[in-house]
Amino acid sequence: MSSFQIFTPKEITSLRHAGKILAECLELMGSLVAPGITTKELDRAAEEFIRKHDGATPAFMGYHGYPATLCTSVNEQCVHGLPGDRVLEEGDIISTDCGVLYNDLFTDACRTYGVGNISKDAKHLLTVTEQALKDAVGVIKAGTKVGDISATVQGTVEGAGLSIVSALTGHGLGKTLHQFPDVPNYGEKGTGPKLPANTIIAVEPIVCTGKDGIKEADDNWTITTKDGSLSAHFEHTLLVLENGVEIIA
Ligand code: MF3
Ligand code: CO
Repeated sequence: MSSFQIFTPKEITSLRHAGKILAECLELMGSLVAPGITTKELDRAAEEFIRKHDGATPAFMGYHGYPATLCTSVNEQCVHGLPGDRVLEEGDIISTDCGVLYNDLFTDACRTYGVGNISKDAKHLLTVTEQALKDAVGVIKAGTKVGDISATVQGTVEGAGLSIVSALTGHGLGKTLHQFPDVPNYGEKGTGPKLPANTIIAVEPIVCTGKDGIKEADDNWTITTKDGSLSAHFEHTLLVLENGVEIIA
């Protein structure tokens, strides 16, 4: 479909419920991230947390055959890191990307955390990527064009001397995990589709300290920076309102 999905008040109530579970799950991940824990342990904790809520299930599991609840992307891994036996070490950064499915509706969000003490460069990367998402949220309301979001993310990231990972984009979602429109992290203000009220989009800057460019790992899921530089990812599921925006997760 190449048109916006508009959600009913009832659907929005369900999305809010899913989003609350998802936001709490990501907070839990933040509290568990520490030297010594494995990415598989994080994944188990996330799955258990989500399933504890009646009717809620992990939204990524089974998606194109994806076998886990979380994507855990460490250091040079940008997105879709497969949870496994990797042990987190002091100084690593890890993004925990997760979705909750509830009443057939999808939410999707991500936070990147430092493991113990992290380098100045890593801190800068996390701060700027999170700020880029905040800045983008700040320009969204009914009537905003997708290019306004893209240009805002790009301005913050490049203004801070970092690079957009341009192959990876945000997206519409709700009825499915990915639907119209794509929300690129670079672009021109005033271009692209115009957001209506009561649609749902995921905005997700994926940023790296080196040069733009990706490659796929041998597991056929994990995507890393081509140059091995550090990458961070923050994502919100957002409800577009007449006069602003609501963070669903
Ligand atoms: N947040 C991820 C994205 O928007 C969702 C990954 S689904 C998975 O691409 F199945 F690939 F894990
Ligand atoms: Co997403």
